[in-house]
Amino acid sequence: MENTIPVLEIKNVSKSFPGVKALQNVSLTAYKGECLALIGENGAGKSTLMKILSGAYSMDEGEIYIEGKKVNIHNPAEGQKAGVGVIYQELSLVRQFTAVENLFLGRWETAPGGVVKWKEMKKQVEDFYKSLGLHFNLNVPVGRLSVAQCQLIEITRAVFMNSKIIVMDEPTSSLTNTEVEILFDLMKRLQSQGITIIFISHKLEELFRACERVYVMKDGCNAGEFQLRDINKDTLVRAMVGRELKNYYPRKTNTPSDKVVLEVKDVDDGKMVHGVSFQVHAGEILGFSGLVGAGRTETMRAIFKAEPKAKGHVYIDGQEVSIKSPADAIRHGIAFATEDRRYEGLVLPLSVAHNISMANFDSICNKAGFINLRKERALAEKYKDNFNIRTPDVNKKVGELSGGNQQKVVVAKWMNTNVRVFIFDEPTRGIDVGAKAEIYQLMVDIAAQGNAVIMVSSELPEVLGVSDRILIMREGKITGELLAHEADEESIISFAIGG
Ligand SMILES: Nc1ncnc2c1ncn2[C@@H]1O[C@H](COP(=O)(O)OP(=O)(O)OP(=O)(O)O)[C@@H](O)[C@H]1O
Ligand SMILES: [Mg+2]
Repeated sequence: MENTIPVLEIKNVSKSFPGVKALQNVSLTAYKGECLALIGENGAGKSTLMKILSGAYSMDEGEIYIEGKKVNIHNPAEGQKAGVGVIYQELSLVRQFTAVENLFLGRWETAPGGVVKWKEMKKQVEDFYKSLGLHFNLNVPVGRLSVAQCQLIEITRAVFMNSKIIVMDEPTSSLTNTEVEILFDLMKRLQSQGITIIFISHKLEELFRACERVYVMKDGCNAGEFQLRDINKDTLVRAMVGRELKNYYPRKTNTPSDKVVLEVKDVDDGKMVHGVSFQVHAGEILGFSGLVGAGRTETMRAIFKAEPKAKGHVYIDGQEVSIKSPADAIRHGIAFATEDRRYEGLVLPLSVAHNISMANFDSICNKAGFINLRKERALAEKYKDNFNIRTPDVNKKVGELSGGNQQKVVVAKWMNTNVRVFIFDEPTRGIDVGAKAEIYQLMVDIAAQGNAVIMVSSELPEVLGVSDRILIMREGKITGELLAHEADEESIISFAIGG
């Protein structure tokens, strides 16, 4: 089906932040009922462009037309009125409210006298979901539903508010494969109702499945527009990173030895983890695979004592260590780069430099305990270069960096510590292809220095491409173990789902 009616025309939009030209003359046209992909490296300007469209940011220059009419969108309310709904990387539902309350947020219907018409509202929402073939528990706060359900509710809320254009900024990053299917299904339904979807994702396979056309952005500029059926992944990557990217996975220079660096026995958190025991060797990258919810993150949190009630034994280099808090874990040489960078990994209002130096003040403090700012800066500059962290200045607040660049800071934060065991939980979530390759290389380098590396990942190609050995978890237990060179996607999945 060829769509020919432009719903959205963005013309020559520019936007600067102090020290950054985030967008320069960017133009984009989207047609009725299409699913348009928007891709680019971390910091390319994708989210900024969408925030301008929705009214969260104002543009410096440019014009936006919706259904042929010029619109002036100065704030999110105006964006909504113009028919734009955006689902951001971070969800924005009110967790204590039910789906009905969330869908009617800010515009509860009242009878004369101010009584809220709950029954009528609920009925409307029920009918609406029925028309979409979806079913949610409308009686509980959405905080009790799964992330995937919240995501679907968030999307349907945009539809409910009559959005003609729905922007999804990395909607699949925390969904399981089945949940992704449900999402894609919903997207198709919305398209058939004439709704236009703009889909931002770093998972290129998904774009090829869900979208027809793609815009590539690079360094705040347009860098190409393609029909996806005409191109392959390599063409897309070349447009995105501006060079050929031959090896997604690094050459393995690490060799696992017999020496056990980390051993854990009978880890149990009383909830999601039940008697998990395993070893990691010097020079080894141990992959943890399994479905979302299998208890992998919880196992790591238990080892790190981020979960105070967790039980179990932890041995480092053969010695049992007592870990009562994350601070103990760090002292014993365990680093944990968490999957949830916004809540656990970073302090968003602090600078890039402070965040990088945070896990190891010893190396940048003088004897009296004062931070040596010159040293801190030098350290931060080093990691900025090594990881290609896109920021004009290491004194910039981390919260102002693009999502993927924030993730690089999380990893950098742990790199300067004296660590024996590195735990990476979904280290490449939201990271562009070029930066992914850099992070893989980094893990191999860390292991090659004789350290133990654990990588929790839901991306099977990544688990297979980077690990030496793979443990698979299901329902809080380890259900399989494979050497990476003997494993394939099918063998991992069969352990993960219990075939
Ligand atoms: N509120 C802000 N203040 C200052 N700079 C900002 C702000 N928001 C974005 N930027 C900068 O604008 C540039 C574009 O960022 P943007 O978030 O649009 O990238 P992105 O393409 O969405 O990247 P990612 O794939 O990592 O999410 C980056 O250099 C970023 O640091
Ligand atoms: Mg973004």
